[in-house]
Amino acid sequence: MRYALITDHIVAKLYGKKLCHHLHKMGYDIALFSFPAGEASKTRQTKERLEDGLLKHHYSRDTTIIALGGGVVTDLAGFLAATYCRGVSLILIPTTLMAMCDAAIGGKTGVNTPCGKNMIGAFYLPHAIHIHPGFLKTLPEQELFCGTVEILKAGLIADAELFFNFSSFSVEEALGRAIEVKRRIVAHDMHDVGKRRFLNLGHTLGHAIEAASGFQLSHGKAVAMGIVLEAKISHRLGLLNTTALSHIEAAFPPVVLPCPYEAIMQPLTLDKKGRFSFVLLQDIADPVVKEVPVAIIEEIVHDAFMCTC
Ligand code: GLY
Repeated sequence: MRYALITDHIVAKLYGKKLCHHLHKMGYDIALFSFPAGEASKTRQTKERLEDGLLKHHYSRDTTIIALGGGVVTDLAGFLAATYCRGVSLILIPTTLMAMCDAAIGGKTGVNTPCGKNMIGAFYLPHAIHIHPGFLKTLPEQELFCGTVEILKAGLIADAELFFNFSSFSVEEALGRAIEVKRRIVAHDMHDVGKRRFLNLGHTLGHAIEAASGFQLSHGKAVAMGIVLEAKISHRLGLLNTTALSHIEAAFPPVVLPCPYEAIMQPLTLDKKGRFSFVLLQDIADPVVKEVPVAIIEEIVHDAFMCTC
């Protein structure tokens, strides 16, 4: 068996080179392949460059890809493993809190295109996922926040105790519970045709806010605002009671929307149906997918903007 350790330049410096050297000394036939860190690298072009590197070094079907890094690395290297020689063995070692509790779990792999995120990819399960919270020691604050939002989201969709008692759990316990939420959902809906959509709570408006800010706002902050706004929509539609809404508002930082707030609505109004499908909450840990009239989304986003300016 030959091993290809795929990572980004930052993780290569922090851990990748050491891990590769260590495994090599233990007798593994392993080499490191890296690419520039960041979402901008998650492309077909980067995948092609990595594939060409593997081909040049005569990697064949007896290859195991080890993906070491955050969600960009696990998504990209996972997709590469799914297609290289029609599919080779894959081991994931997520190094960010977000990748540990979300991106590395559930077999979604893929790359972005100018037409949208993750538009090209495959469902491809790894042979193993190694999760070491020790990696979190070098993780920037912003990345830790992003993972915390994903853990709270897991609580909001399926684990009320995790949501309400988040601060009393250790990182390992909270992470373990969030992984279990995702494992249970994916076990029933691997191909994202039903309940897996619940995992998108906060992400519809979150992505719109992130894009409207020109990607100045971090993904974590944008999704946190998306969760609060989608909870407000749930309340406005009479699905979620006021007490549950105030618990959700208290769990996340205040919503401060980027200007002009109309930009947030742009991707939603492009949809000519006049209604948009959202993951909403009927209670903590009781999600539902519903079509929401664009006028109501507009009202909630407008009110949130007026409250913060
Ligand atoms: N991150 C959402 C999913 O895995 O379905």
